[in-house]
Amino acid sequence: MEQDIHFIGISGSLRKGSYNTSLLNAAAGLLPEGVRMEIVSIADLPHYNADMDLPSAVDRPESVNKFRDAMAKADGILFASPEYNYSIPGALKNAIDWASRGEDSPMLRKPVAVIGATPGLWGTARMQLGFLAVFQYLDMKPVLKPEVLVNQANKKFDEFGKLTDQTSIDILRKKLEALKTLCKDQKLLSAKA
Ligand code: FNR
Repeated sequence: MEQDIHFIGISGSLRKGSYNTSLLNAAAGLLPEGVRMEIVSIADLPHYNADMDLPSAVDRPESVNKFRDAMAKADGILFASPEYNYSIPGALKNAIDWASRGEDSPMLRKPVAVIGATPGLWGTARMQLGFLAVFQYLDMKPVLKPEVLVNQANKKFDEFGKLTDQTSIDILRKKLEALKTLCKDQKLLSAKA
């Protein structure tokens, strides 16, 4: 029987009508067999404040605990994010910072994939490169290829936010397959350990 794999999906944009939230929704419709995905919002997280985090983790805000718990339940993380000033948007980086601390960090050593959409020409490439440092610090297991760089996004979604570009759909499907494979491998490894 196909093993059940659970992704958490996070959009780096808080904007209504966001291309990246639309891309995440497209991913939810293209999941490989045996995979389910919970989409979680980062809109309610406060600014990171170490006084409310470690070493007194009991003081973490409720929204942070909920976010960390949702991530902890997932076998793999899918970030769909815009590029802001060639980098990771502040709201998303803030969410990552909240999830990153402690030996019980739900990001530590976890499979992860980043996808992105922009009306610009470079498809969020520089934002995705910015993630490499996060992956390294948290010893994450990134799916680096194929790269999902949806450029000229204004031409690739319809007015309802549906991804209509077949090349983007095909590459997104492959990315999700690759994340599933990595999650399965990691599950097998931790079952053996
Ligand atoms: C942008 N945008 C942008 N685009 C890009 O390709 N590279 C960049 O570095 C930036 N920088 C940037 C900074 C800030 C503060 C904003 C608000 C926007 C444009 C961005 O790609 C565009 O607004 C997207 O539509 C944002 O993604 P969502 O909200 O549609 O998912």
